[in-house]
Amino acid sequence: MWAQAQPNIALVKYWGKSDIVRNLPAVGSLSITLESLYTRMSVELLDDPGADELTVNGEANAEMLPRVSRCIDLIAGGDRGAARIQSETNFPVAAGLASSASAFAALVLATYESTEKTANTLTMARIAGSVSGSAARSLYGGFVELSVDSETIDVRPIADSDDWPLKVIVVVTETAPKHLNSGEAMIRGAETSPFYSSWVERQPEDLAGARAAVENRDFEQLAAVSEHNCLKMHTVMWTSRPPVVYWNKATLACMDAVRELQKKSEPVFFTIDAGPQLKAVCLPSAEETVKDTLAGVDGILGIYSSGLGSGARVVEHS
Ligand code: PMV
Repeated sequence: MWAQAQPNIALVKYWGKSDIVRNLPAVGSLSITLESLYTRMSVELLDDPGADELTVNGEANAEMLPRVSRCIDLIAGGDRGAARIQSETNFPVAAGLASSASAFAALVLATYESTEKTANTLTMARIAGSVSGSAARSLYGGFVELSVDSETIDVRPIADSDDWPLKVIVVVTETAPKHLNSGEAMIRGAETSPFYSSWVERQPEDLAGARAAVENRDFEQLAAVSEHNCLKMHTVMWTSRPPVVYWNKATLACMDAVRELQKKSEPVFFTIDAGPQLKAVCLPSAEETVKDTLAGVDGILGIYSSGLGSGARVVEHS
């Protein structure tokens, strides 16, 4: 039995934790779930105790294993037998392509399936989110909003992928794992960036703007809010001490290419997460032009395009 989940791309970003132990986000977020990139996970729980084993695309992975084991404990209990976990992705992991989001969303579903316990999607989203904040959103498809109070998160789809079939062009500018994981970078930002408090304060405004843009299918408004929110998050990163800079030359060249397309009135905007990859979001009419333009930027290593897709689900493994 395999569970599949796709990465999601935040248009209004999660950056900062209000509770590090419970991994509670300091801000709400709004994302789109992709269709073509995926992580598939299978979990086999043995009867006997022992060390868990994880393979990612066929290779043993010790780095991710402690978080994976902790996530399985949350569902199957700490006194469970050893787990054999297999993970497969069709895109590079740990390089800012939201691989932890799709991985932990798929892992939670795969673990529930293997224990034969049941839970509703929100319960699964909360468990995934307690391990990787953005993973909570990949349990759902289409446009997803995550809100937070002092105790817990709430996650809900606000529009289906078919309601507004945007396209996302993911441009890979580096395939090596990122130099600093997002959790540590967030804590550093909260402790040292002079802009962190205004980032948190202004988030409800951006969420309301993006939510309204989705409701009204207003691409220009979604573009304006998303780019602004992304640049604010990176401002917190850049002004952390020591600074956290995930961009490289090709990331900047891609931003420039998107700006040039916008000058020609192409309906496209960019967003960038905790990594050097750029994601260009566009209307279907602009997909080919955006893809061709970004494919011609110096220094890019790969390009994927995707529509919007569904949430985590059980699949036949082929
Ligand atoms: O889920 P995490 O802990 O890897 O954090 C991801 C944070 C960003 O991708 C940068 C933004 C987001 O909301 O997905």
